[in-house]
Amino acid sequence: MPDPHTPCQRILVTGAAGFIGNAFLRRVLSKRPDASVCTFDALTYAGHEENLEDLPGAERHTFIQGDVADAAAVRKAIASFAPDAVVNFAAETHVDRSILDAEPFLRTNVFGTQVLLEACRAADIRLICISTDEVYGSLEAPLEADTDCALAPRNPYAATKAAGDLLAQAAFITHGQDVIITRSTNNYGPRQTPEKLVPLMILRARAGASLPVYGDGTHVRDWLHVDDHSDGILAALERGKAGALYHFSGSNEQSTLGIVRAVLDAVGPTGARIEHVRDRPGHDRRYQLDVSTTHAALGWAPIVPFAAGLASAVAWYLDNDAWSRATAGEDLRTFLEANYAGR
Ligand code: NAD
Ligand code: DAU
Repeated sequence: MPDPHTPCQRILVTGAAGFIGNAFLRRVLSKRPDASVCTFDALTYAGHEENLEDLPGAERHTFIQGDVADAAAVRKAIASFAPDAVVNFAAETHVDRSILDAEPFLRTNVFGTQVLLEACRAADIRLICISTDEVYGSLEAPLEADTDCALAPRNPYAATKAAGDLLAQAAFITHGQDVIITRSTNNYGPRQTPEKLVPLMILRARAGASLPVYGDGTHVRDWLHVDDHSDGILAALERGKAGALYHFSGSNEQSTLGIVRAVLDAVGPTGARIEHVRDRPGHDRRYQLDVSTTHAALGWAPIVPFAAGLASAVAWYLDNDAWSRATAGEDLRTFLEANYAGR
């Protein structure tokens, strides 16, 4: 278990070729000049080698391509890099994909979590499990889930995240393992795969394409800048208690329509128009987290104002055209419409 006052020197970050893991990796390399970080990532459709270029302190970063559900590969990475701690961002993360095919979600989010728990227990190192507000299910306003709230996931992605969290909780109770769970609300910022709402709308708005809003567009999410989330995770890694659960929220609720209109304003006139499309099956209306115990325990609070954070995110996607083209992948929207048809 790390000394709570000594920052970790060697951190294995799984899933750091993806969105939040990559922001965390960059944050650690810039804020902790003595730290060495190894990325362990399978490079699925959501993992981008481009994200591992131009890192601050790149000489302190190494990369291993591997699957968290492959126990031998995980053990080998831990033996060779010898980390003080592992922070797990590796996951299947897109709700729409989980509705179409949940199997990869079970493999990575459930089995992969158990593999990491066992490998970290054998090496006697801390494991931080990054999780989501979706495990509490849909909440009516003004309810907020506190850290004692029962889990009630309502889509396959959320169910697999809840299962991973329960395995982590069981490892703490059964084995006294040094494991921490963190849950956050929706993140936004640079380098998010453009299947998620914010980057998808930015890139479609720029192209003058239709902006597909599911159902009536009144569904609510809380939006947290990815750098604020990364700072919270770093605080949990360095100052968190074994077995604890920490919540991170931007205290910034927005409807889908509110987000899409803000993106349209930031991108400027291109002829793009909102189009209401078939709703996501089982679409959760709202999530929110109570962050009072996390504020008290870690002294964490978000600092990026939403308007400034969104403006800088929009500028980042517009300025990084090569990244957007390289990561756009298949036309997920066409795929979804074909697959949801008739439900
Ligand atoms: P992402 O989809 O952008 O990236 C996931 C990364 O994990 C990719 O680099 C991918 O290649 C890698 N990966 C997937 N399966 C793997 C496997 N089997 N082995 C190794 N690597 C694998 O994800 P994200 O949005 O950055 O989310 C990171 C974590 O944060 C997830 O656990 C997610 O549940 C959680 N979370 C995300 C949000 C959000 O708004 N994006 C909010 C709350 C919590
Ligand atoms: O709440 C945290 C979760 O946030 C994370 O755990 C997930 O990994 C992450 O993907 C995100 O899930 P959401 O389902 O909230 O994110 P998404 O960007 O897919 O959708 C945000 C909202 O926008 C949701 O209400 C659905 C809606 N939406 C989304 C897309 C992609 C649309 O209306 N149109 C779209 O094209």
